Amino acid sequence: MLAIIGGSGFAQIPGFKLERREVTRTPYGEPSSALSFGAVAGQPVVLLARHGYGHTIPPHQINYRANVWALQSCGVTRVLGLATVGGIRADLAPGILLVPDQIIDYTHGRAATFFTLADRGVHHIDFTLPYSTELRLACVNGAKRAREPIVDGGVYAATQGPRLETSAEINRLERDGADVVGMTGMPEAVLAKEIGLSYAVLAIVVNYAAGRGASKAGIPMEEIALVMQQATGKVQRIIEQVAKDNGG
Ligand code: HPA
Repeated sequence: MLAIIGGSGFAQIPGFKLERREVTRTPYGEPSSALSFGAVAGQPVVLLARHGYGHTIPPHQINYRANVWALQSCGVTRVLGLATVGGIRADLAPGILLVPDQIIDYTHGRAATFFTLADRGVHHIDFTLPYSTELRLACVNGAKRAREPIVDGGVYAATQGPRLETSAEINRLERDGADVVGMTGMPEAVLAKEIGLSYAVLAIVVNYAAGRGASKAGIPMEEIALVMQQATGKVQRIIEQVAKDNGG
């Protein structure tokens, strides 16, 4: 079954037919929201609101372990995370959709592994390719079928937040090789990998990163909501295709 982790502005997916909500508990505590079971394009889909339904949980306080654990324990095999990001590369303007293929993790102090209990031993999982190639391709090909332009590949920089970056920090991220920047991509990706879920991210560029393009003198926060709103239909059509591919 496919799960969607909805990010900022995407806690609800238009076209999602809700059947039931379930409050779950995990050994790591409560997930960000109840799990919403339902269907997209006739295929079973579970929805989890990463920041809670009222958008009350900031990126550094999300219980990523509970979220990923809850999804896995209800029979989910594929997880598509929706993430709003800032565009660092000049061509990644607001409104563009991108499926990253790499991550650089700048977060700190987040519970980033399931391997903390003594009885689980010491594990070093391979993270060379942080995302599922199959699910990435399902997104890219789904976007093509839906005739929605999409950028295949890119480096996602995960920053700590909740503040946005300085322009010098963005320059540094660019020197490091990052293309987009967001606050929630880690440890979600590594936890999914540890627990054996196929995981990919559909990133929505909602602003130029600090010091870039129209954000030279500051990020125009009031424009972000409009960009999100305009991207909603595109995101919905891609999710429909991903749900149909592989039978959800
Ligand atoms: N930086 C970090 N996270 C973000 C941004 C950004 O510019 N835009 C949306 N999420």
